Amino acid sequence: MAKILMVCLGNICRSPLAEGILKSKLKSEVFFVDSAGTGAWHAGELPDKRSIAVAKKYGIDLTTQRARQFCLDDFSAFDYIYVMDKSNYENVCRLAPNDEAKKKVQLILNEYHPDKNMEVPDPYYGGDNGFDDVYNMLNEACEKIKIKLENA
Ligand code: 4NP
Repeated sequence: MAKILMVCLGNICRSPLAEGILKSKLKSEVFFVDSAGTGAWHAGELPDKRSIAVAKKYGIDLTTQRARQFCLDDFSAFDYIYVMDKSNYENVCRLAPNDEAKKKVQLILNEYHPDKNMEVPDPYYGGDNGFDDVYNMLNEACEKIKIKLENA
């Protein structure tokens, strides 16, 4: 079973959406999808209300998710680790025990815009529109990830 981890800073806005979107596209018997944050401030909490609302518009339920912090064991537990922005990339790679682990870490938007190193902006302090924009970016990237994984 291929295992995919989505990572952002708080694990309450972007990565829960990425988890929900990718899960909705893949068969759960074949793919395991989870998410985590590099920070621990929100551990145990539900996703942000605005992420829950935007996902609900598209028929995706995020309310079974609870935030947790990224940990060293995630490098062995997951095959693909997708981060939302460059600071997530630095924070995760800093913990990587070796090059093989580091190679698992990719900026998620590089799946849609290869080598452009674009970031999913943090919508936490912005307005509600930010969450729609984030949803659309993640949906495009997850569609590419689905195609890649199903053909791997
Ligand atoms: P996320 O957004 O990384 O997309 O979950 C954030 C959520 C909370 C905070 C920062 C970013 N915070 O500083 O509490």
